[in-house]
Amino acid sequence: MSAASAEASWRHIEVEPLAPSLGAVIRGVDLASPTATQLEELRSVWAEHLVLTFPEQTLDREAHKAFGRAFGTLHVHPLNHARGGDDEILVVKTDANSKYTAGDGWHTDVSCDAIPPLGSALYIKEVPSNGGGDTLFASMYLAWEALSEGLQNFLVDKFAVHDGALPYVGAYGVAPPEGSNYPRNRHPIAPRHPVTGRRLLYVNSGFTSHIEGLKREESRAILDLLFRHIERNPRFQCRVRWQPGTLTLWDNRCTQHHALWDYYPESRYGERVSIVGEAAPAL
Ligand code: SIN
Repeated sequence: MSAASAEASWRHIEVEPLAPSLGAVIRGVDLASPTATQLEELRSVWAEHLVLTFPEQTLDREAHKAFGRAFGTLHVHPLNHARGGDDEILVVKTDANSKYTAGDGWHTDVSCDAIPPLGSALYIKEVPSNGGGDTLFASMYLAWEALSEGLQNFLVDKFAVHDGALPYVGAYGVAPPEGSNYPRNRHPIAPRHPVTGRRLLYVNSGFTSHIEGLKREESRAILDLLFRHIERNPRFQCRVRWQPGTLTLWDNRCTQHHALWDYYPESRYGERVSIVGEAAPAL
């Protein structure tokens, strides 16, 4: 089905593509009380556009969590041990006193988990008044498909290690709970998406420490090449511009995102839920 005919087939929601590569703005649905038919259409449109952004929503925490639960069980973030509050809500807050902002670099959420979240839904309540704080998203289907056949053949059966200590200790300075470590797991570099079956690139600069079976400097050079490939190709990307009340839902298996911290010393506030994945990334 072509993109144009697919857009026309949504009967219970309005869908406006954000970019040809990924992303769509969804209107005509109240996420505090979506109907079963709207949720059914959202599942299909999500698989097609990967990142769905819903402006002008009014959600309390329970409604936000209920929307996330429409797609699966809610995930508990490994950093929530240090934050208190609601285990299923990850607070994303940056102000003039922040030492870092969560997600300020290309990454997949919590790819260090054995089964990383299948998706996340971020609800932004406060935006900086200087116009900053957008989030960039990139399609890892397109990133894989744009590699040469020679490089794809080299990478296709390789595994890489994803280590939670890299961002959580290395970048954020948050020690793991006493007596334990953050998750560290190996995943294929080119798994297939469990729903669409399409192959994608699955390494990210936030969590991926090295490629198994290569010398250290070989692994570093190839990872750096792949990270640059993702960050320097705007045609794999779309950009979400938030207003207070925007919720964005992304497929965390086949996209990466980068939260821009271009608004210092202003503040931005949001809350995220993530949805537990159904299976580890697999070839
Ligand atoms: C994140 O989930 O990585 C944060 C995204 C954002 O703040 O835009």
